[in-house]
Amino acid sequence: MGPVTDAQGIQLPSIAILGAGSMGGAILQGLLQPGVTVTGGIRITNRRPGRGPEGVTAYALEEDPEANRRAVEGAGIVLVGVKPAGVGDLLDEIAGALEPGTLVISVAAGVPLSAIERRLPPSVAAVRAMPNTPATVGLAVTGISPGSRATAEQTALARTLFATVGEVLEVTEDRIDALSTISGSGPAYVFYLVEQLQEAARQRGFDAEESALLVQGTFRGALELLRTSGLPPRSSAAASRARTAPPSARSRSWSKPTWPPPSTTRQPPR
Ligand SMILES: NC(=O)c1ccc[n+]([C@@H]2O[C@H](COP(=O)([O-])OP(=O)(O)OC[C@H]3O[C@@H](n4cnc5c(N)ncnc54)[C@H](OP(=O)(O)O)[C@@H]3O)[C@@H](O)[C@H]2O)c1
Repeated sequence: MGPVTDAQGIQLPSIAILGAGSMGGAILQGLLQPGVTVTGGIRITNRRPGRGPEGVTAYALEEDPEANRRAVEGAGIVLVGVKPAGVGDLLDEIAGALEPGTLVISVAAGVPLSAIERRLPPSVAAVRAMPNTPATVGLAVTGISPGSRATAEQTALARTLFATVGEVLEVTEDRIDALSTISGSGPAYVFYLVEQLQEAARQRGFDAEESALLVQGTFRGALELLRTSGLPPRSSAAASRARTAPPSARSRSWSKPTWPPPSTTRQPPR
């Protein structure tokens, strides 16, 4: 499933995505939405050959060892989407082919800006970004940190790019690991809670389909209620109780819900 953002009138310069796997591919889907115009085209590279979507030029290293260098020629933005261990070699490979003014954006976890900038010509700026897995459905939360050579315009460009797959928060690089702890690991905790609540529903006699409907619908609805009310979670819980609980329970002060339900014993994901 492609992104579901309501991207409108977004304009970006030519982009090369080096490593269009899970994350690079999700960002590619964001760029292919009707409301997004990429002037000068999109090129992607992978090791193995495969057809890119319509309107995208796809290169494979196995067919053309110069694929990465070819893809970045004239690109305004180069998105580095390979695994962290491959970033250094990739940057060394393309450094000589980048035009002055190019913006290199790395999504590699744990690779600091200093290591990225060191491998790039001084005329090339870098931004580090940390999207999360809901990028694949256009509901990512992406942290971006500008490098020392990135101008305000280039940082804004990175923001615009990631807005095609969700929400964007700019942070200094010393906060990007903390951000990743919340938004990167967060989906696994949500899935865990959903699993546990679905299991609680199963134990109360609902079948798998009914349990999924009950729990996932409840999460969607509760989050939307939280978002539209503008209230903090604690106040939302109180407001919800005031609307639904019997009068005797309405004045009870906030207490954390009992979790997990007594019959479930599994540990949260690491
Ligand atoms: N997945 C996430 O949720 C997530 C979240 C935040 C950040 N990230 C970051 O995103 C990066 C990619 O992760 P991923 O999960 O998307 O991995 P992935 O699915 O394995 O994608 C990596 C892609 O890079 C390609 N590749 C490998 N070496 C290459 C090279 N030298 N030149 C061009 N392409 C090359 C691979 O091609 P082949 O398949 O043909 O080998 C593959 O398509 C990582 O650095 C990770 O830290 C991922």
